[in-house]
Amino acid sequence: MNIAMIGTGRMARGLGTGWSKAGHRVVYGSRRPQQREGWAESLDQAQVVDQAAALAGAEVVVIAIPFTAVAAFAQAHAGQLQGKIVVDITNPFDHLPDNRISAAEMTAQAIAEGAGDGARVVAAFKDNFARTLGEPIDPGGLRRDVHYAGDDAEAKAVVAQLARDLGFEPVDCGALKACRILDVMVPLMIDIDRRLAGGQGQSSWKFVVGDQ
Ligand SMILES: NC(=O)c1ccc[n+]([C@@H]2O[C@H](COP(=O)([O-])OP(=O)(O)OC[C@H]3O[C@@H](n4cnc5c(N)ncnc54)[C@H](OP(=O)(O)O)[C@@H]3O)[C@@H](O)[C@H]2O)c1
Repeated sequence: MNIAMIGTGRMARGLGTGWSKAGHRVVYGSRRPQQREGWAESLDQAQVVDQAAALAGAEVVVIAIPFTAVAAFAQAHAGQLQGKIVVDITNPFDHLPDNRISAAEMTAQAIAEGAGDGARVVAAFKDNFARTLGEPIDPGGLRRDVHYAGDDAEAKAVVAQLARDLGFEPVDCGALKACRILDVMVPLMIDIDRRLAGGQGQSSWKFVVGDQ
């Protein structure tokens, strides 16, 4: 698939590198692509261009920027995002609004405000530490989970396959509003990781299906 990674940070690089290795065409969208020249090519032959250029031709767009920058990005590029599969990996932390709407629902709203209906937003990878992206099987031999949620079945199936392409186990968490739970699982995960695993950011969730 043609995948646009918006952002050039730890998550964008971890996911983008894995998808390039799996055979996808990955382009990184940066606010300052000229300062990133040669950076992506050295990793995986990918390109770094400006955000609008990255979106052109993309089938899947992964928003890998700070939560506080998402609404402005989504509104500015709403037309280009319409109809595309938009993977929102951002975590709101203290910026979570009081009305309990989730980060991913806000992203879908911001795109809809700019371009009408048509955003196919899937929340995913929110509770996967960047350090684990290249290590989908944990040291104990368990395949790490990727929680994902969305309202568009086809978009969700694509994102589940993209998680599998990296070697992860996709876990369907339901509709996009389930992201309200995922948003608060992230601070919990960070706290558990700090207290029980030394804060290394190498832990992950595992859903175990019991005997049926
Ligand atoms: N780190 C984790 O373990 C983790 C895990 C799950 C989810 N997340 C979420 O994934 C997103 C990216 O996290 P990250 O750890 O990859 O962050 P990061 O390393 O700080 O990178 C963020 C990237 O966003 C881009 N960006 C665009 N607009 C920005 C703005 N206004 N301010 C700052 N950067 C901006 C920057 O790329 P350019 O300068 O090239 O534009 C920057 O490289 C966040 O929403 C985070 O909550 C992180």
